[in-house]
Amino acid sequence: MILLAIETSCDDTCAAVTDDERILSNVISSQAAAHERYGGVVPEVASRHHLELVNPVVDAALGEADVELADVDALAVTRGPGLIGALLVGVSTAKALAAPLRKPLVGVDHLHGHVAANFLAPEPLKPPFLCLIASGGHTLLAGVTSWDGFKVLGQTLDDAAGEALDKGARLLGLGYPGGPAIERAARTGDPAAFEFPVAMSRDPGLDLSFSGLKTALRYAVRDLDAPTLDRRRADLAASYQAAVVDQLIAKLRRGIAKGEWEAVALGGGVAANGRLRERATALCEDAGLRLKLVPGELCTDNAAMIASAARFLDPAPYPEYLAWAAAA
Ligand code: KG4
Ligand code: ZN
Repeated sequence: MILLAIETSCDDTCAAVTDDERILSNVISSQAAAHERYGGVVPEVASRHHLELVNPVVDAALGEADVELADVDALAVTRGPGLIGALLVGVSTAKALAAPLRKPLVGVDHLHGHVAANFLAPEPLKPPFLCLIASGGHTLLAGVTSWDGFKVLGQTLDDAAGEALDKGARLLGLGYPGGPAIERAARTGDPAAFEFPVAMSRDPGLDLSFSGLKTALRYAVRDLDAPTLDRRRADLAASYQAAVVDQLIAKLRRGIAKGEWEAVALGGGVAANGRLRERATALCEDAGLRLKLVPGELCTDNAAMIASAARFLDPAPYPEYLAWAAAA
């Protein structure tokens, strides 16, 4: 089944064509440069960029896949969660492409998309598995026991892991997006140089929290004079990244212990992080579990993961979906 999927929930304009579990094209136009000077995503700027980029990105995805719109069996689009204006661009575009050809349309939950990135070739993962989703907007442990959804086993009580990295990078003057910037800076730093709190470590549940960590970094930065901050920036980045990863790994370890899982997967932009991937690899080796790691470009936002999720959901026939709103 050939699917054309569109994803515009945040600051990446994405379209992809898939044929069952195979990716035929996966086009991502990042708006990072447009948001960098603000140190984060500005919703209205994102919507306007999506409007300009979405048609060329869809054309590029069809072109790279060598597929005509008429040959597509169904379209898929992220309906939420995300920035409402950004989502609306994707939903309206998908409707406008699907309706004239009377094609069915599948509405996809963005987080289910991050889970479903693991269903793609090569070596697609099958439920059941435990999935850690860590992105800019969400951080949760998902129990995936079916193809069409997941159960939230625990989640952040405040900031998301990616949000903590983005805000941390801003405090350190490292630019946006913060996760990759902190990872780069951390390469020459000592992760044990500063002791940052690993929240929720004594909490027996699976919830997470990152806002205290961000505050601890703010105080650490405040207490250093400018030349010392310059000299110790890599150490701060490495120690901060280590504290984020330590908490994610502690909760993943606890999630593994609480269930009868045979496999573990990671999803969301933070899953592209090298330190998290290494630590998760060691954890799953110890636990004797298969760990599925998709490439970085399938961790961060993309439309191939939306198409992947859509394969397992009921499509809405024309004209039912014309009444759809986006769901922020
Ligand atoms: O899944 P995603 O692309 O968008 C959302 O759904 O939010 O995740 C974006 C987040 C950002 O916070 C970004 O800083 C983080 O993922 N991120 C990373 C890395 N690449 C992206 N965090 C740590 N290490 C990375 N290599
Ligand atoms: Zn995402």
